[in-house]
Amino acid sequence: KILILDFGSQVAQLIARRVREAHVYCELHPYDMPIDAIRAFNPKAIILSGGPNSVYESDYQADPALFSLGVPVLGICYGMQWMAQTLGGKVESGDTREFGYAEIRARGHSKLFNGLQDRSNAEGHGLLDVWMSHGDKVTALPDGFTLIAETPSCPIAAMADEARGFYAVQFHPEVTHTKRGTDILHRFVLSIAGAAPSWTMPNYIDEAVKKIREQVGDEEVILGLSGGVDSSVAAALIHRAIGEQLTCVFVDHGLLRLNEGQMVMDMFARNLGVKVVHVDASAEFMGKLAGETDPEKKRKIIGAEFVEVFQAESKKLTNAKWLAQGTIYPDVIESAGAKTKKAHTIKSHHNVGGLPETLNLKLLEPLRELFKDEVRELGVALGLPHEMVYRHPFPGPGLGVRILGEVKAEYASLLQRADAIFIEELRNTIDEASGKSWYDLTSQAFAVFLPVKSVGVMGDGRTYEWVVALRAVVTSDFMTAHWAELPYSLLGRTSNRIINEVRGINRVVYDVSGKPPATIEWE
Ligand code: XMP
Repeated sequence: KILILDFGSQVAQLIARRVREAHVYCELHPYDMPIDAIRAFNPKAIILSGGPNSVYESDYQADPALFSLGVPVLGICYGMQWMAQTLGGKVESGDTREFGYAEIRARGHSKLFNGLQDRSNAEGHGLLDVWMSHGDKVTALPDGFTLIAETPSCPIAAMADEARGFYAVQFHPEVTHTKRGTDILHRFVLSIAGAAPSWTMPNYIDEAVKKIREQVGDEEVILGLSGGVDSSVAAALIHRAIGEQLTCVFVDHGLLRLNEGQMVMDMFARNLGVKVVHVDASAEFMGKLAGETDPEKKRKIIGAEFVEVFQAESKKLTNAKWLAQGTIYPDVIESAGAKTKKAHTIKSHHNVGGLPETLNLKLLEPLRELFKDEVRELGVALGLPHEMVYRHPFPGPGLGVRILGEVKAEYASLLQRADAIFIEELRNTIDEASGKSWYDLTSQAFAVFLPVKSVGVMGDGRTYEWVVALRAVVTSDFMTAHWAELPYSLLGRTSNRIINEVRGINRVVYDVSGKPPATIEWE
């Protein structure tokens, strides 16, 4: 396995993704991981990430003893500068920041670049298109190092001490702009470090099943099933491991998508034979929400009620000793960036997984090591339908945050039907250029119920009915998002169908706001 030390880079997780794409297991830890912990981790190699600081003025320093462990080390950007400075080279601040594409020229025959090039120049040097983002640069090589790549503005663009297995690059191989970036990282991990490519889904399932059986023994496990990808995949995996010892509790708050409750029951109880307790708590939730219009209070009410219902249900399962949760790797990574930056809460996120410790159950979190796309891959490998596993994310409070203002059962029913039409049209409309459906081309899409009435005309009559807004966004991380440029014909069909098929709605609008300043959800 590979250890990645995070010096506060925004893209450190991408390094981990690339390494795992080489089927090598890796973990991301903060730069100040104690050397004893590093030793105990026993990495096959170490990768040092980039970071926003300057080496000579920051306390972003890892323990230099990691260079004495006898394992290969790859420094990226700040990681290169820290390596250079720590091993006796020189780092200086540049007059200008270099940001964007650069063409590097490979020098010598380093194991890192040999045979990897986008093209070559007249003298036969390999040329590579890379992505640079730095202010400081290495100006003198440490002892034992040789130059392995250069650019006109960055004469030491990469360096290596091949005898000790130390490599460093000023550019970012982890971003897709660096065309051969993945190859370079895989070269380091597989050829130079000699890590075995054994991190594959079938292997993972075997190991995870074994581990769950060892952990749980003959005890019983409960799991809060939400219908979302993470809890569904966790349920399928645990069921594969311990079968009847797992009981899922599916709390239906009445604010799910159309027919979702039925779908979850069909998939788990009927198809997979998982024990699922279906709790229809919609009346309780609606009761608690009555009269409340404040978005934050609505979220808190839904969160608290969820915990209450789940707790009441789990107390009935007196034999249960374990609580399983669909926690995934990005939830548990302790990032170096988060240590310094104060995280701002824009909205209080209620997650169906977030249950209190008062249940007195041991925690079982079999997806803790997986990235989201690995969770999806696992779901498919376990036999969950592709369509379910690749669904858009759905917020814990569900339609509670998509019905603006007071939540009423009547509004929820109108919204569910409008939303289902929109999703159906997105799935059925194929973009010719890419051959993909608009559902797959968007990251999240849904309808929002506006408690506003407007005048319309239908046949000979005047109508005075509710408005629905359509929201569709494209994003890679949900922190920022663009509104999706859906074809007018798709919007037109969706609008027609909603107004014709959902009595009570006579107007449909499309949301053309980006995030920021708008958020993806309306509340
Ligand atoms: P916003 O609206 O903040 O949403 O731009 C970003 C992403 O988070 C989801 N979201 C939630 N998920 N509980 C959740 O589990 C919540 O309370 C919640 N609020 C927003 C939203 O759907 C989007 O994917």
